[in-house]
Amino acid sequence: MASKQMLIVAIAAAALAVAFLPGLVVATEHVVGDDKGWAFYVDYTAWAEPKQFVVGDTLVFEYGISSHNVVEVSGSDFVICNQTDNAVVRTSGEDRVALDKAGRRWFFCGIDNNCENGVKLKITVLETAPPAPQPKAPLAAPPLSNPAGKLQARFGEAAAMVTAVTAAVLVL
Ligand SMILES: *[C@@H]1O[C@H](CO)[C@@H](O)[C@H](O)[C@H]1NC(C)=O
Repeated sequence: MASKQMLIVAIAAAALAVAFLPGLVVATEHVVGDDKGWAFYVDYTAWAEPKQFVVGDTLVFEYGISSHNVVEVSGSDFVICNQTDNAVVRTSGEDRVALDKAGRRWFFCGIDNNCENGVKLKITVLETAPPAPQPKAPLAAPPLSNPAGKLQARFGEAAAMVTAVTAAVLVL
């Protein structure tokens, strides 16, 4: 008997998790240049273009430390590859950069003329991810504009799911 109750609790927890999943914030790690890393001959504008950078995400720069580093500057210095005295310079070869606030960030390689040769990246960090397009709900419900109402609806869905699953378990 006890195991059946535990199963019901587990299923209820799972149903709740599923019901709330769309609302969860998932932090993304963006490896700059993907498997090419921070290197020559990578178009970082093209790399960044389809991506969404959101507060809480992390940029990871992977590179050989003999050829590259990561210099962070302002927008105007970025344009002319100017490594200012107060620039943040990262040199570990696997630099993790926390995207901790919304706005633009500018990075380039400060070694030789690598910046002029295109080893540079600018991104825009968003406060929150824009809502993903929602699949059409099978049951039409009136649109809920207030967050509390949405939360209630989520609880309602979860409760309905739990009830259905519990009923199914009980007849097993
Ligand atoms: C480059 O940065 C320095 C500050 O470190 C500044 O004095 C200089 O004017 C900048 N160069 C240009 C061309 O903006």
